[in-house]
Amino acid sequence: MPVRTALTRYALACLAGAIVATSAGAQPSPEQTALAIRQGHMKNYAAMLGVLGPMAQGAREYDAAAAQVAADNIYHLSMIDQTHYWPPGTAQGEIEGSAALPAIWENMDDFMAKQEALADVASQLREAAGTDLASLQAAVGALGQACGACHQPYRAQN
Ligand code: HEC
Repeated sequence: MPVRTALTRYALACLAGAIVATSAGAQPSPEQTALAIRQGHMKNYAAMLGVLGPMAQGAREYDAAAAQVAADNIYHLSMIDQTHYWPPGTAQGEIEGSAALPAIWENMDDFMAKQEALADVASQLREAAGTDLASLQAAVGALGQACGACHQPYRAQN
């Protein structure tokens, strides 16, 4: 085997080991991995909204640069193809820790359309966030509605 191939294989093996090691010894199932990835994605949205929301509400001083970073992050997150986030067998009741309602898998097209709707709004937010406070306020409101439009039918409330 050429040295470069061997090194690449070694590097990949180390990487795989590192990923497994973070999960307290046991190797996570593909379903557990998907759950962790999508919940991390959602937490990232929430963290960025945690920057934008208080600015929009006047609880934090408007900061165009910080608003732009948060809006850019939400936009880039929304561009990720999420197909692999939602494998069968990961609804609430099927896997521990999931709040995803079974309705997702019965209406996958609608579910993905709600994700695309969020991506549209995120794109507008990205244009608005660094402009001025009034623009940010309008766009953040629309974003919050796009989150809720998916949570309402597809995320367990408890
Ligand atoms: C296309 C549907 C959809 C959109 C759009 C969406 N969410 Fe979610 N969200 C879900 C579902 C489904 C869950 C439950 C996932 C699970 O537990 O398996 C969830 C869970 C969450 C969680 C809990 C994560 C955890 O650690 O358990 C947070 C926080 C969250 N969403 C925030 C947001 C925010 C903020 C937005 C908008 C910027 C948003 N979501 C947009 C579907 C969506």
